[in-house]
Amino acid sequence: MKIIAFVVLTSVVPTSVAMAEDFSPSSTQILYKEQCSECHGANGVSPIDRYPNVAGQKKGYLQTEMLAFKSGSRPGTIMPSIAEGLTEKEIEELSLYMAKMKCAP
Ligand code: HEC
Repeated sequence: MKIIAFVVLTSVVPTSVAMAEDFSPSSTQILYKEQCSECHGANGVSPIDRYPNVAGQKKGYLQTEMLAFKSGSRPGTIMPSIAEGLTEKEIEELSLYMAKMKCAP
């Protein structure tokens, strides 16, 4: 009798998570997932018709618009209150993250 047991050990293998101190893609990913993906889609393509896609947009544009929501110079229905709770650094990192998303639907 033969017992075949495939044990997947990938979760046990230690992975190197060396990242630069001043830029943390993983925390930005988590921030996006928790605070933005519901409206703008996990991949930056919004599942809701009246919310904009953000995937693949220019980083500089995204950053400028988010800062404008934060300062109040760009009005909005939802974003001013969301941007208010973000730091300028988080806005910059989120902008870079969204700019790097592939804009395929
Ligand atoms: C509850 C829904 C909702 C959530 C959550 C949300 N957004 Fe938005 N977002 C909107 C809407 C609606 C707009 C259009 C402006 C407005 O009415 O506030 C918008 C606009 C934007 C824009 C401007 C897009 C453009 O083309 O000018 C950016 C950038 C953006 N959101 C990024 C984010 C980020 C980053 C987060 C997470 C920190 C986030 N949004 C969370 C609904 C949402």
